[in-house]
Amino acid sequence: MEHVAVNPWASLAYLIAGVCFILALRGLSSPATSQRGNRYGMIGMTIAVVTTLLTHIPMIDLLVVGSTPAFDYSAIIARVDYVTMLEILAAIALGGVIGLLTAKRIAMTDMPQLVAAFHSLVGLAAVLVAAAAFLNPQAFGIVDEFGQILTVSRIEMGLGIAIGAITFSGSVIAFLKLNGNMGGKPIMLPGRHVLNLAVLAGIIGLVGYFTQDQSPWVFWTITALSFAIGFLLIIPIGGADMPVVVSMLNSYSGWAAAAMGFTLHNSAMIITGALVGSSGAILSYIMCKAMNRSFISVIAGGFGAEAAVSGGDAKEQRPWKRGSAEDAAFLMQQAEQIIIVPGYGMAVAQAQHALREMGDKLKAHGVRVKYAIHPVAGRMPGHMNVLLAEANVPYDDVFELEDINGEFAQTDVAFVIGANDVTNPAAKTDKTSPIYGMPVLDVEKAKTVLFIKRSMGGVGYAGVDNDVFYMDNTMMLLADAKKMVEEIVKNLE
Ligand code: TAP
Repeated sequence: MEHVAVNPWASLAYLIAGVCFILALRGLSSPATSQRGNRYGMIGMTIAVVTTLLTHIPMIDLLVVGSTPAFDYSAIIARVDYVTMLEILAAIALGGVIGLLTAKRIAMTDMPQLVAAFHSLVGLAAVLVAAAAFLNPQAFGIVDEFGQILTVSRIEMGLGIAIGAITFSGSVIAFLKLNGNMGGKPIMLPGRHVLNLAVLAGIIGLVGYFTQDQSPWVFWTITALSFAIGFLLIIPIGGADMPVVVSMLNSYSGWAAAAMGFTLHNSAMIITGALVGSSGAILSYIMCKAMNRSFISVIAGGFGAEAAVSGGDAKEQRPWKRGSAEDAAFLMQQAEQIIIVPGYGMAVAQAQHALREMGDKLKAHGVRVKYAIHPVAGRMPGHMNVLLAEANVPYDDVFELEDINGEFAQTDVAFVIGANDVTNPAAKTDKTSPIYGMPVLDVEKAKTVLFIKRSMGGVGYAGVDNDVFYMDNTMMLLADAKKMVEEIVKNLE
């Protein structure tokens, strides 16, 4: 068996990178510290990549030549294959430029599909690494004295390829759904639970069998079945459950990276993968709780989504009241307390700065202004918190659903700006609604509801009508959110 040397300095560097990643996660837990968290993440990743580059190239050299003293860098670097180094740097530069351009161009509202696309790349990378290790196990130092792949490596590879392929195909479907290339409605195949269970059992059985028989057909059948199950698991999931799916795929991508770390003998990858995997799992659990969905039913692929198929997007012709910016300004100036409910439309309109200005003006008039954040408002976890923080809305004015929902009944004005699904009372009463069971903000309990959206025809993400539009105490403010808020601000002068 080939011996893979582990450089103690590399281990130390990876440990430091691991600590940076933990500090990054800590920082990302609050908008106030998130920039610092991101910086720790970047430092950790730089340390990890540079360490891997510095140690990896001599390692290849060692494996090939076999006689160079382990850490005599001057000798090794003098003989490093510069073409390989150039190729690696070119790949990093190409990927870096694509990443930079994408990050600069992407609209905040398209973040979820970008995240799904990135997860698919992590999954694909895991598949490619496992395939490379399978096709050339000597280069990875994972063969025994008979030239067979080590049993432990076969388990790692089997798991890596399975999780990676599920992450890849699942994320591609999530991307297509979030990007609107595929309808958000769940696609229910007949007998899908039996089919899914059979495919899953097949994958687990074959990963076990792979430890006994390393024939190519076993490896490639695991790969094909895993691609298929990723696809089968995500297509039945309806629009309203997509947030959970994205965080779940985030978790899978972490486990796929950790599995790759074992194959590549890279402890930084194992640490990072495990951190992403476990934090993604915790986030999925939090999202499931927020959506009142069972974790198992979502990962099992659309259990409980049956209702969504019958959930209508029927638009009813019912009377509703239209108001103007002037009416809204007048009503709000009279109020003692206003709760602002931001949603996806605020992000589309980029109305957060105008909204903050409106809040400041109202406060100057002696009105108490609070912001209510639904956990899945917008299109990604923390979406509204990020936008409000960007506009310098004080954190003390921002409340989570469970902390503020009891206050709507004592509030004069609920000011809904570009939110829809997260205020829909059908989630509480209509069992056929795709959002049934999801906790919602009780805006209808306020004395007056001011509801900003562009048209009566537009629906929210789940594609369903909202009874709040037609209530006696609701005044619809139909316009782009930013323009409407700017008008209101003018009328508050
Ligand atoms: P939605 O239910 O999607 O409603 C958005 C509303 O904003 C619509 O009523 C739309 O009506 C209006 N709007 C859009 N652009 C506007 C503009 N420029 N000016 C004014 N209004 C505008 O949003 P929500 O209440 O935030 O709910 C979020 C939904 O997304 C949930 O169903 C959730 O499950 C899903 N989701 C969430 C996430 C995460 S993690 N947050 C991820 C994926 C999916 P008009 O078109 O008539 O203007």
